[in-house]
Amino acid sequence: MSATSLEHGSSCPRCWALLAPCSSRCEGCGLAFVRRGGVLDVIGDTLREARAAQVEALYTRHPFPGYAPSDDGPTLLDRSRRAPFLAALDRAVGPQATVLDCGSGTAQLAAFLALAGPRRRVIAVDGCRASLACADAFRVKARIANLHLVRAELFDLPLAGRPFEVVVSRGVVHHTPDPARAIECVARLVAPGGMLLLGFYESLARQLHVLRCRLAKLAGRPVEALDPVLRRADLDREKKDIWIADQYRHPLEHLLPLPRVVAQLEQLGFRWVRSVPPAVDEDGEGLFDPTPKPGAAAMLARRLGWLARGLADPDAGLVFVVAQRVR
Ligand SMILES: C[S@@+](CC[C@H](N)C(=O)[O-])C[C@H]1O[C@@H](n2cnc3c(N)ncnc32)[C@H](O)[C@@H]1O
Ligand SMILES: [Zn+2]
Repeated sequence: MSATSLEHGSSCPRCWALLAPCSSRCEGCGLAFVRRGGVLDVIGDTLREARAAQVEALYTRHPFPGYAPSDDGPTLLDRSRRAPFLAALDRAVGPQATVLDCGSGTAQLAAFLALAGPRRRVIAVDGCRASLACADAFRVKARIANLHLVRAELFDLPLAGRPFEVVVSRGVVHHTPDPARAIECVARLVAPGGMLLLGFYESLARQLHVLRCRLAKLAGRPVEALDPVLRRADLDREKKDIWIADQYRHPLEHLLPLPRVVAQLEQLGFRWVRSVPPAVDEDGEGLFDPTPKPGAAAMLARRLGWLARGLADPDAGLVFVVAQRVR
């Protein structure tokens, strides 16, 4: 398949109608967009809300997560399969599932799911033009025909008519002005019976990183020895700079307590499946297999356990809730 056919074989994110090559409006539902390579840009040149624009400016300077020049399909597959959460996610998502990655950044997770399941339909949506341009370059390089890239605002997603079997949103809702409303926007795209994987900075789990940020402020730069990502010898300078921008210099960040997120999801019609980490239990259960919802004390113990991972936590307090839509 050529890069050109990858660019033109797109369908409408809202109604799935096949889009005519070079069109700028869907004939099925009237959605207007600008095409930038293989990205359907629904925001276009519209002025974004001030804080969203600030967040986009950060990721324009440092698209997240970064690709190395040597990255290609096999290296992404290999790297992702070695990450317990991603490997468990791939095992859990059906071979023909329709998946949405909301706030995909450069779409590494989405590209992995699309590559690992060529009959899946994976939509990656993000507000940052530069991040999606990186995603598109990789999509063409790795020849991923079942990955669709859309630039849209999280609070105004052009996907209303299409519930997804799996919706992932990792590291996004806490970077918006209103995380609760962001959770609602993402959650309503999950089909009945479908799964939501919401990754967010947990308020207790991230306390060590809060301390690291204070030290970084005092020292004038992050203390590399205290950060498991900055300590890694196998990561190049560029990837570390992207991490520093995202983790230490973010213009908009909230911390969310697990019990509050769980209560909101329940109100929105979801049932608890599990939290991550760990990605799978020792007995080898799948990521979507239900586990008993912890009571208040057990939930606190779980959050303290995350905090206790301390300097060994490579995600700096980012945790997931997996929840299933029941109504
Ligand atoms: C930390 S990155 C996470 C990227 C990806 N999910 C991952 O985990 O690798 C956060 C992403 O959320 C996107 N984002 C933040 N606020 C947004 C909004 N209001 N609308 C759309 N995207 C948004 C940013 O552009 C950025 O790419
Ligand atoms: Zn349409």
